[in-house]
Amino acid sequence: MSNTISGFSKLSKSDKINWLLETYFSEQDQARTLVESYWNTDDKLQKLHDEFIENTITNYYLPLGVAPNFLINDTLYAVPMAIEESSVVAAASKAAKFWLERGGFKAEVIATEKIGQVHFMYHGDVAKLKAFFEEVKPILIKDTAAITKNMELRGGGILDIELRDKSDDLPHYFQLHAKFETLDAMGANFINSCLEQFANTFKREALLYKAFTEEEQNLTIVMSILSNYVPNCVVRAEVSCPISELKSKDIGDPEAFAQKFKQAVTIAELEPYRAVTHNKGIMNGIDAVVLATGNDFRAVEAGVHAYAAKDGSYTSLTHCTVENDRFTFWIEIPLALGTVGGLTRLHPLVKFAMEMLQNPSAKDLMKIVAVAGLAQNFGAVKSLTTTGIQEGHMKMHLMNILNQFEATTTEKEQLVEHFKTNVVTHSAVVEAIADLRK
Ligand code: MEV
Repeated sequence: MSNTISGFSKLSKSDKINWLLETYFSEQDQARTLVESYWNTDDKLQKLHDEFIENTITNYYLPLGVAPNFLINDTLYAVPMAIEESSVVAAASKAAKFWLERGGFKAEVIATEKIGQVHFMYHGDVAKLKAFFEEVKPILIKDTAAITKNMELRGGGILDIELRDKSDDLPHYFQLHAKFETLDAMGANFINSCLEQFANTFKREALLYKAFTEEEQNLTIVMSILSNYVPNCVVRAEVSCPISELKSKDIGDPEAFAQKFKQAVTIAELEPYRAVTHNKGIMNGIDAVVLATGNDFRAVEAGVHAYAAKDGSYTSLTHCTVENDRFTFWIEIPLALGTVGGLTRLHPLVKFAMEMLQNPSAKDLMKIVAVAGLAQNFGAVKSLTTTGIQEGHMKMHLMNILNQFEATTTEKEQLVEHFKTNVVTHSAVVEAIADLRK
């Protein structure tokens, strides 16, 4: 193929850009100006970003917004959110304010255990493998001493290692299934380093184990990797108030609202098509804070959705009760987050976001993120069951449509005023712009 290239990563940044422009772009000057206009004028800062990944050519901006007024366990937070979707920060802020006036959010971390596995193939006598594992287990722990030393000093480390027989699922398949406490670190590097050391030790000791036959000694390590499924690293967040306090501009009758809200949550609990969208709305809040705080949103997404399906059918991550004149709405989710390591102390805006959150521990960050998800879901379900989602969504999207049509500042002012009392749809905005420009 004519456009293949080898040694791309070894080219200088400008040679990479030149090659791209020559190979794929018709308006090369325009494309170059665009790429360069996103470079930071501070060379040191740009270099820092260049070095986060391989083959960086420029920066990709997302807005960093703030949702203030989040009262969580009696502490007030302004929550940083990095996201492109117009209505998310507005909805989070509105939900935060709503619950600020009703006692705020309560959140607790239920558990913080992380998981990693060494997957291996063993052909032979399972009883002998079990006996070998019991003998080798202390050596597995001892051999990771250099890796675990600092973590142990801080109170974390390896919690346990089990041998798991998975040969009913796949012939000859076994695992070392290990549990870790990684404190304020997300722990991916720590866990993966421990696992790779387990694998080396396990292989080495197997070759020396006299009771094994030659075939048994030659077990095969397939891979060693942490699991992003962390069903024992879980946080719960809740809001609750007397039904009579569920009053706002969009809520008519509080009792009817509470019942309808609960029905909407129940539908998400039992109907996977709705559950996925319901949970997507939760992830609008969660991902935005996870991203702003330099955490791995792909890991969080994968783990959260697996948790939503843990009982065999995909279901809602939030739940609601309306009992004894009380409305209670809560979320329970697994979150493997870090406030040290990774990008958290490296990316200047992540440092800024962490300071905004009063430099939280990983546990505090779990609470804040869970609350952001709950607030987002409250906002979405409240809109869905009252005004409908489009009213708020399109109001926020209005500016995007105006920008698409390159509206001037005066045009924007006039049209924002116009749409205060008119329904925003794409075609209504297009018509209004045309009318204004006649
Ligand atoms: C849009 O990004 C999210 C919602 O669809 C969530 C929901 O339906 O609950 C509004």
